[in-house]
Amino acid sequence: MNPERLSEDDIQAAVALLRAGETVAFPTETVYGLGADAGNPLALQKIFWIKGRPADHPLIVHIADVSHLDLWAESIPGAVWRLAERFWPGPLTLILPRRSDVPKEVSGGQDTIGLRIPDHPVALSLLRAFGRGIAGPSANRFGRVSPTTAQHVRDGLGSKVGMVLEGGTCRVGVESTIVSLVNGNAVLLRPGGIDREEIEETLGQKVCSGISGSCNARVPGMLASHYAPETPLEIYPGGFLGHRALQLVWQGCKVAVLKLGEDGERFESRRIITVCMPRSAAEYGRVLYSTLHRLDRAGFDRLLMEAPPVTPEWVAVNDRIQRAAHDTVKEKKSG
Ligand code: TXA
Ligand code: MG
Repeated sequence: MNPERLSEDDIQAAVALLRAGETVAFPTETVYGLGADAGNPLALQKIFWIKGRPADHPLIVHIADVSHLDLWAESIPGAVWRLAERFWPGPLTLILPRRSDVPKEVSGGQDTIGLRIPDHPVALSLLRAFGRGIAGPSANRFGRVSPTTAQHVRDGLGSKVGMVLEGGTCRVGVESTIVSLVNGNAVLLRPGGIDREEIEETLGQKVCSGISGSCNARVPGMLASHYAPETPLEIYPGGFLGHRALQLVWQGCKVAVLKLGEDGERFESRRIITVCMPRSAAEYGRVLYSTLHRLDRAGFDRLLMEAPPVTPEWVAVNDRIQRAAHDTVKEKKSG
C-alpha cells in the first residue's frame, strides 16, 4: 500500500491502542518496528513477550522531534546537535545517558537510552499524533530476520500485535547505525544505514568501533547469531559457490545460491536456483531481508551466499550476513 494513502483513521486507531498500553507495528525507513508507549512499563513488557526477547536487551525510543530529547536523556552532548542536524530524521540511533525517571524496562536496566527520529511519513505521523516516545525494536521474533514489509510482520508475529500499520517496503532495509555518545567520545555500536565515515566527517573526529567488543563498549543484545533465516545460510567467495552447491545437491539438498549480479532470478535445475543480488551495497541492503524472508518460505535446505566486497559501504550488509550465517558455521564446526 502507498504510505501516502494511509488514513488519519488508521493513525488515530494506532494512537488509541498505544494509549491503552497495546502494541502497534509501524514502518520506518530501516525496518518495521514493534511499537509501544515507551513510558508504560506494562506495554514495554508486551514487546519483550511478543518478540521472545530477553528483558535485559535495551529498546530504542523513537521520537518526533529533537525537542523531545531531554524527556529521555539526562544530558545532551554538543555532538548530538551536529549529528541530529545532518542525519535526523534518518537511520541513526544515538545512545545517551538516561534520565532516572525513564522506565528501566526500556533500557534493559542500563543507565543509557537509545533515541532516534525515523524518516518515514507513517512513523512520523504516528509519533506526532501520539506525542510521546514510542519504544520500537524490529518487529520480528528474537534472533530472526527483521521485517521490511507489513506482510513480514504479520507472517512473523501474527495476531499477537495490536495493529500493523502499512507503509510499503522499507527504503533502507537494514537497521539504523547506532552511535554511543555516553563517555565523551563517539563509539560505533552497530553499523547500519549511515556509514561511519559520514559520522566522522560530521563530527570532525574518528569514531571508535565498539562492534567487536573494543572501546569498552557495552552492546547488550548484539549477538553473534542474529538476523537469521530458519534455513541454514553459508557464505563463500564467488569461485567456491558452484562447487559447494553441487556438493550439497549430491547430499540430496535443495539449494538457493545468492550471487552478486545484474540478472533476474533463474532456475538452473530442480535442486539449485540462482538469485542475483545487487552489486550496489545500498541496493543490496534494501533487498537483503526481503530475499531471506522469501527464500525461507520456499522450502530450500540451504542458502549459499556470495561474499560481498569488504569495503566501507558494505560494512552493514557484511555485519548482518555474518550474524545470519553464524549458527550454520557453528553447526558445521561441531559436525
Ligand atoms: O533501525 C532500527 O534501529 C530499528 C527500527 C525499528 O528503528 N530498530 C531496531 O531495534 O533495530 P532492535 O531492538 O531490534 O535493535 C536495537 C539494538 C539493541 O539490540 C541494542 O543492541 C541497541 O540497539 N541498544 C538500544 N539501546 C541501547 C543502549 N541503551 N545501550 C546500548 N545499546 C542499545
Ligand atoms: Mg532487532
